[in-house]
Amino acid sequence: MKPHAAIERRGRFDALAATLEGPAVALADEKVLRLHPHVGRALSRAKVRVVPLRGGEGAKSVRTLERVTAACLELPRGSTVLAVGGGTIGDLATVFAHTFKRGVRRFVQVPTTALAAVDSSVGGKGALNVGATKNALGVFHFADEAWLCDELFTTLSGAQVREGLLEAWKMVVTLDAKAWTRWSGRPPSLDEAITIGRGIKERLVAKDPFEQRGLRVALNFGHTFGHVLESVSRFRVRHGEAVGLGMLVALDVGVALGVTPRALAAEVEQVLPNTRDARARLARWLGAPTPGELERLLSADKKRGAEAGLQMVLLTGPGRWTLAPVSAAAWRAVVKRLAQA
Ligand SMILES: NC(=O)c1ccc[n+]([C@@H]2O[C@H](COP(=O)([O-])OP(=O)(O)OC[C@H]3O[C@@H](n4cnc5c(N)ncnc54)[C@H](O)[C@@H]3O)[C@@H](O)[C@H]2O)c1
Repeated sequence: MKPHAAIERRGRFDALAATLEGPAVALADEKVLRLHPHVGRALSRAKVRVVPLRGGEGAKSVRTLERVTAACLELPRGSTVLAVGGGTIGDLATVFAHTFKRGVRRFVQVPTTALAAVDSSVGGKGALNVGATKNALGVFHFADEAWLCDELFTTLSGAQVREGLLEAWKMVVTLDAKAWTRWSGRPPSLDEAITIGRGIKERLVAKDPFEQRGLRVALNFGHTFGHVLESVSRFRVRHGEAVGLGMLVALDVGVALGVTPRALAAEVEQVLPNTRDARARLARWLGAPTPGELERLLSADKKRGAEAGLQMVLLTGPGRWTLAPVSAAAWRAVVKRLAQA
């Protein structure tokens, strides 16, 4: 069986692309191709077919998968697939690499957003959305290599960098008490967030690669309501921001249930790099759906199944978490308070 951690290579994209051999296709974010023309030139020198795609949740669809597949039909199964983009291109490419002719020989992730570098390009998960439901279809397919090309991160906006930092904080507050202490004194640079975030996720994934031991679930801290916010905003609240806001909901739920110490929740909220209007944004988006719609979105979450009650990852201490049942009365009361804030 393939190892679950990709070989990590750091360097300029053109130097890494020069090492490619054999037939290959790159599913590439068209914005990255535009902002970093050396990427297209390096792919063309390496004779890699390029399928340009618009990054964003729309890329994670069955329709895009079909379009990409149709564009690659004559490529052999022994091809290499590269994902050159953020988490949406990475997710689509993971599903493509897994399903194209029943699975290609080699899969390389080239994360170009902070969020993808910290989180989504690690751990082998890829998924497509169905309608407004996030990640309704998905696979596990571990990348063989990850290329981290710092020059590609230079065109990210402050908001995009923050989204990656929020995912790294998510891992640190739930899983790494030492890094939590260090970071709460001095917030990390993007480079440090990428290194620490990837390391935490890789170690966790190695213990529970296919999410069978209930360990990977820790990575869902902030995701229960994060996914709801993405859906109710029709993806106008982007994934990283949604997770940042979802962590605030999880902190409030944890405090309401007596699971998360109030002082810890306040400390975490203070250091999370959410925007200053985070609670106002939460009020806006949580106030939008009816309780019935919220219920439906929560039960569409793939991690629950229709029969189970709501379960959420909650903080119990610095670097410590639990998966706790949350009654409808409890989450409704928290949502009501947040929506009225
Ligand atoms: N598979 C996993 O384990 C996992 C984990 C976390 C998140 N995700 C998924 O990742 C997705 C979010 O990823 P994302 O935030 O990277 O989104 P994204 O792929 O939509 O990228 C965000 C935006 O950044 C642009 N972009 C990409 N690279 C750029 C660059 N170098 N410079 C400037 N702009 C650039 C894109 O064109 C896009 O507009 C969500 O769909 C989420 O569900 C998956």
